[in-house]
Amino acid sequence: MTTDALRARLLAWYDANARTLPWRVGPRDHASGVRADPYRVWLSEVMLQQTTVPHAAPYFLKFTARWPTVVDLADADDGDVMAAWAGLGYYARARNLLACARAVARDHGGVFPDTEEGLRALPGLGPYTAAAVGAIAFDRPTNVVDGNVERVMARLFAVEAPLPDAKPELKRLAAGLVTAERPGDWAQALMDLGATVCRPKAPLCDRCPIAGHCAGLASGAPETFPRKAAKVERPHRHGVAYVLTRDDRIALVRRPPKGLLGGMLALPTTDWRAERWTHAEALAAAPAAADWRGVGEVEHGFTHFTLTLQLLRAEGGGGASDGLIWSPRRDLDALPSVFLKAARSGLTNLL
Ligand code: ADE
Repeated sequence: MTTDALRARLLAWYDANARTLPWRVGPRDHASGVRADPYRVWLSEVMLQQTTVPHAAPYFLKFTARWPTVVDLADADDGDVMAAWAGLGYYARARNLLACARAVARDHGGVFPDTEEGLRALPGLGPYTAAAVGAIAFDRPTNVVDGNVERVMARLFAVEAPLPDAKPELKRLAAGLVTAERPGDWAQALMDLGATVCRPKAPLCDRCPIAGHCAGLASGAPETFPRKAAKVERPHRHGVAYVLTRDDRIALVRRPPKGLLGGMLALPTTDWRAERWTHAEALAAAPAAADWRGVGEVEHGFTHFTLTLQLLRAEGGGGASDGLIWSPRRDLDALPSVFLKAARSGLTNLL
């Protein structure tokens, strides 16, 4: 069967089955000339990298209610944006988001460039996002390849090379299916197919509009694609987090701007290292003199390592405590997940 037939089948499926998403102009409206707002498309794409639609959607609604245009976001306070991003992870992305919004406001009069190259030239806007915004907001025939699309291609063409080495081949295969006809709908159709039918674990091949084209299905084991290189164990690290309270306030710090969780509010912690911290070491590294007690530990998984945070808790505390930010306990939601988890656990566990 031809590429044209495959495309026609998938686009027809999208016309009937497109998910309703808060940033999306659905296929019917799109056909009658409604265009997506590039700001909303861009914001959603940044949020959806590394997180799922159900997790990102409330953040998207919160951001667009508070900052309805890219100029509003450009004018926002850095700390407010970082706090609103808390829980989405990958905090460098929130900083890039602001840099990009400010460049659009300052250098482009608040209007996003309407080509892939123009978008790519914005700070913090990578090749995936430029392709996605180019296609979805401006109907440019770009090649939009995320993890979902890689999986669909690996199955459709039964690609034997394992990820991540197969990425260039998967991208080339995806490019072969892009045409100037409905590029935005095409990109979103592939995403929806990957998310709802060509699912990572149990794909619903009996509902797939392009099952008849699928070499992976013909092989008898479509779910075994994409092939994956053997997993490398993530290293494990240990740190101590300090839960220091005074009445209804908790001591926080602002992490350095660069690096993991950069620029975010955090609990004071030691370095994160391969060996556990002894109680004596943990006391010596404490951010203030206080009657510190061990109150258990929490585990957290990052992309590149796992972490055990031993928790020390104290109330009051005196002496030098430079750099501590005494925040109302109710503001804990501005903390990244790892510290929210540690703070909640440290506050709940008995001294
Ligand atoms: N995943 C990433 N971008 C998406 C989009 N625009 N629609 C649905 N799922 C997505």
